[in-house]
Amino acid sequence: MSKPKCCQKMPYVLKGEKKKYAWCACGESSNQPFCDGSHKGTNFTPIIVDNEKEGNIAWCGCKATSNAPFCDGTHSKLSL
Ligand code: FES
Ligand code: FES
Repeated sequence: MSKPKCCQKMPYVLKGEKKKYAWCACGESSNQPFCDGSHKGTNFTPIIVDNEKEGNIAWCGCKATSNAPFCDGTHSKLSL
């Protein structure tokens, strides 16, 4: 697998807590937008974020962002 799976063409906006998050980069996790270990056997590894903010976080759901793991608006340019 060389391209991540697009999970949804919009971010997952979730309230952040002060803790570590592992964002799913492959798109195969059943626990989007976070890693559940399903990337095993692919070229992908999760991106770890040590979050300090308690406000909302817009996690990229399309997996095409240039600012992983966060949404940068790229999803609005995807076809399909
Ligand atoms: Fe996607 Fe771990 S399940 S990166
Ligand atoms: Fe991926 Fe916005 S959801 S760039």
